[in-house]
Amino acid sequence: MNRVDRLLNSRMKSSLAPVIPEVTNHLINAGGKRIRPLLTLAVAKMFDYSGHHHINLAATVEYIHTATLLHDDVIDESKKRRGKPTANMLWDNKLSVLVGDFLFSRAFQLMVETNSIRVLESLANASATISQSEVLQMTLAQDISTNQEKYLQVVRGKTAALFSAACEVGGIISEAKSSQIKSLTEYGDALGISFQIMDDYLDYCQSNENLGKNSGDDFRERKITLPVLLSLSKKNQENNSFWKRTIAKGNQRDSDFISAQKILREDKSLEETKEKAVAWSEIARTKLKLLPKGKINNFLNELTKFMTSRIT
Ligand code: IPE
Ligand code: IPE
Ligand code: MG
Ligand code: MG
Repeated sequence: MNRVDRLLNSRMKSSLAPVIPEVTNHLINAGGKRIRPLLTLAVAKMFDYSGHHHINLAATVEYIHTATLLHDDVIDESKKRRGKPTANMLWDNKLSVLVGDFLFSRAFQLMVETNSIRVLESLANASATISQSEVLQMTLAQDISTNQEKYLQVVRGKTAALFSAACEVGGIISEAKSSQIKSLTEYGDALGISFQIMDDYLDYCQSNENLGKNSGDDFRERKITLPVLLSLSKKNQENNSFWKRTIAKGNQRDSDFISAQKILREDKSLEETKEKAVAWSEIARTKLKLLPKGKINNFLNELTKFMTSRIT
């Protein structure tokens, strides 16, 4: 991970536009859990990979992630990320979009160095899926007739696709068997879904300090995430007219977020959301059965539990 961080820091430089490393440095060195690069490194280690491409690929994955965060915070008008003001707040939307584009391009430069078309295919597909899913999510926002199937499609695309590719490319460079690569991509997919469901859970139940970002962003942006979908499905008239006013019509008052949290706690939607995240983490665990046993397999097993116990 230290080598990955060094690479991330060295490739953010720009001789043409010195403001680029300023913005990138602000985000990259604010922390971040580094889960996605960790997956790539772990998988390479699981297969005793002896080359050096895993470092490049782990950095590629983190750059793609960072680029999506820069763009995502513009789209979501978010003010806080990794415990600090977002780039769109400190600088502006224009710079966030452009630096995000730069990081995407840097990510592709890094992965080209591996000379592996299969790696390029995996990460190019994941990037295209992420953008499409962010757009799909935008078109579904405010639409309270949306359903869990569409929600799953969004979550799988915007988040799990990169988790899955991060695992897959580790397997590809290690020349794992195709059945093992399949298990790796399925593990990443289920892990990522569990992760994003918890993210949507935390957006309704956390104080801001641990989260590093502001809670309530989803409600304010009128996104129909799993907690709200589950609440809507209970068909409680009073609650549903609340969701209709605040999310479908966007008529929100200052105290509404507190009311939303109260509804979701009392009608058990939050609890059920967490149960769904736990169920996906269990699916992730089953995918480890066909992969090499040992320390790394145990670690990836533990990681599924972290998904649903995390508060940050
Ligand atoms: C944030 O991901 C974006 C989502 C997919 C929810 P992380 O929670 O992994 O972000 P960092 O990298 O740790 O800040
Ligand atoms: C994160 O989506 C997914 C991507 C960055 C592509 P969210 O909007 O739910 O994540 P946070 O809450 O801003 O981290
Ligand atoms: Mg967001
Ligand atoms: Mg978003």
